[in-house]
Amino acid sequence: MTRDGLFACIDAGAGAVVAKSVNESAAARRQLDIADYAFVSPGGAVRPPGAARLGDGLLNRSGLAQVDLDEWLAVLSDGVAHGAPRGCPVIGSITLGEPSAAARIGRAMATVVPAVELNIGAPHGREAHAVRQLTEVDAVGEAVRTVRDAVDVPLFVKLPGQASDVVALARAARSAGADAVGLVGRYPGFLPDLDGGAVLGSWGAWSAPGCLPMSLYWVSKTRLALGPGVPLIGTNGARTADDVLRFLASGASAVEVVTALWIEGPGVIAELVAGLEGLDLAEFVGSALAGAREYAEVPPVRPPAWLPYTARLRSSGR
Ligand SMILES: Cc1cc2nc3c(=O)[nH]c(=O)nc-3n(C[C@H](O)[C@H](O)[C@H](O)COP(=O)(O)O)c2cc1C
Repeated sequence: MTRDGLFACIDAGAGAVVAKSVNESAAARRQLDIADYAFVSPGGAVRPPGAARLGDGLLNRSGLAQVDLDEWLAVLSDGVAHGAPRGCPVIGSITLGEPSAAARIGRAMATVVPAVELNIGAPHGREAHAVRQLTEVDAVGEAVRTVRDAVDVPLFVKLPGQASDVVALARAARSAGADAVGLVGRYPGFLPDLDGGAVLGSWGAWSAPGCLPMSLYWVSKTRLALGPGVPLIGTNGARTADDVLRFLASGASAVEVVTALWIEGPGVIAELVAGLEGLDLAEFVGSALAGAREYAEVPPVRPPAWLPYTARLRSSGR
């Protein structure tokens, strides 16, 4: 969200940096005043401030950058200038409010950045109307087309994870002109604190290592449905280099990481990038799909001896 933050990610070796989202709504900016973050241990305990670990979940409320568009374009422009000689594109981001306003902002952004990301999947959209989460094909098509028509640089569209058919949303985004599709936004979350209250005192957005297979479900299904020609950007649940590899093996050709960065700082980027060294990406992307079958194609499996209860169920035909 700051010039220094963008520079730090570029200097840490990120392949690209997506800047904080903006939109037209004053309410979305005010919402940043109630931003709050709870890092939650795998056992469900909220960590004291500063004690977060990489394996924690994050429940948070958040808002959008509190800057005027002109001021923001200047920050993006400085980021682009710093990133370009280091081979790191800086990408502008809009979290959807009204599609026509997103188009206007996207057109202005495209004068300074080499690509724009449109987030239509923010779970905060369920709690506050300053940002919108689109979960229906028609609405996705309409919003993406409106922004596409205004933006003359590549357009990436980030989709929600919580929709009945994310593959259909990806297809709609692509048909409406998205150059790449981001899969998937965080999930809405709620966590009682067991003292009679709720962590953060509200609902929030949830990301955790356990979200990884849920994100990979949609990445892999979308890769199969749309084919290797449609670039997918994986997000939600990558904390380690192995997680990044799992996104790639499922069909993503880039991976967006945020919570790990919040916990570890920009240094984590260098570790994630180092984990990809020597990898033949063209070969590796989507490689897990060769070993994945529809249920109907899976041959009968012998129940393992250590699962007596399951074996009993099978022999009784259940
Ligand atoms: C504190 C915080 C702020 C975020 N702000 C934005 C944002 O402004 N725009 C956006 O598209 N996504 C935003 N995200 C979502 C991330 O881009 C990312 O998709 C999500 O956190 C899942 O990836 P992760 O598991 O690596 O965190 C934010 C996430 C966090 C944790």
